[in-house]
Amino acid sequence: MNATAARLADGVATARLGTAYRKAKVLHSAVELGLFDLLAAGTAGEERIRERLGLHPRLSRAFLDALLALGLLRRDGHGYRNSAVAARFLVQDAPGYLGGAIRVASQRHYEVWSHLTEALRDGAPKAPTSGANPFRQLYENVDAARGFLAHMDAINGFVGPGLVDCLDWSRFGSFVDVGGARGNVAAQLVTAMPHLRGGVFELAALEPLFDEYMAQLGTTGRVTFHGGDFFVDPLPHADVLIFGHVLHDWSPQERQTLLDRAFEAVPAGGAVLVYDPMLDDGEPDLHSALAGLNVALMTAGGSEYTVEDCRGWAGKAGFRVTGGQRLYTVGNDYVLIAEKPETDEAPKPTKP
Ligand SMILES: C[S@@+](CC[C@H](N)C(=O)[O-])C[C@H]1O[C@@H](n2cnc3c(N)ncnc32)[C@H](O)[C@@H]1O
Repeated sequence: MNATAARLADGVATARLGTAYRKAKVLHSAVELGLFDLLAAGTAGEERIRERLGLHPRLSRAFLDALLALGLLRRDGHGYRNSAVAARFLVQDAPGYLGGAIRVASQRHYEVWSHLTEALRDGAPKAPTSGANPFRQLYENVDAARGFLAHMDAINGFVGPGLVDCLDWSRFGSFVDVGGARGNVAAQLVTAMPHLRGGVFELAALEPLFDEYMAQLGTTGRVTFHGGDFFVDPLPHADVLIFGHVLHDWSPQERQTLLDRAFEAVPAGGAVLVYDPMLDDGEPDLHSALAGLNVALMTAGGSEYTVEDCRGWAGKAGFRVTGGQRLYTVGNDYVLIAEKPETDEAPKPTKP
């Protein structure tokens, strides 16, 4: 490529970066309108799609073309159909459905991100639910709670396999996922490793939604719900405590408090697992950095933090860091593993 062509390519790419939100909005609208659900029932022509979804003809062709170009639809002589990716991730009831996260991105995050410049200057959160505990506020409305939990499931659905692999779980008999939402990660762990007794520690308001979800996943009775406030109530005793996408919601001091409390709850030889889109101390990672801006916009004291910060908090709580790795997830999460040193007199983890 000569210098003129390279300059042109860089200019076009930069200008397109400035409008990258358009691609996201096309996907948001397709999910909100139920386009992929409609096409899950079979191929449909443009007119039928317009009619079924109530679309205006001035926009529908460009909308469908954009989805074709994004690889989410296919077209042949009979009309439009879902691509394999859309069929797998964008149709409701598909096991890997990502619509929950896409709806929250469209309906909550998108508006909040429009205040990024202001937030960069004043450091203040911009979400309407960013009070002392935004989750409590959210759970006052059951539909909002369900929407948020579907979002969490979609994002943390990618975490389970990495958590299974990051630790020799045969050494442990139980775990509690602290702030484990409606139990999606806990269900993945007990399903993959049936010797484990699982638990979720969560705000009590989530219990009915947890019960409902466990029944849906077929894990009723295999994961126990513990209702409480992790800053106030003692954490349940278990061999392993997990904090996933939890520490980043809080200030550094509150993160330290949570790890101090975890140290009290696990036996000597027990472990704590912390996963978040932690920032790297070396090469910056785009997805962790974007997750960091998102959590800072959405919560009063939250932010992403470095792996080194997390090692420091775990060490200060009394844990010994024994491992850690990046997971292949939406925010390129890092999972840090830290163990409570064994002493001769201390009780040991309950063996399976
Ligand atoms: C960002 S979500 C993370 C959910 C899940 N661990 C994951 O990886 O997706 C944070 C969770 O912490 C829970 N939470 C917030 N404050 C809490 C508190 N004070 N006590 C117990 N749970 C709390 C919320 O209800 C929410 O489910």
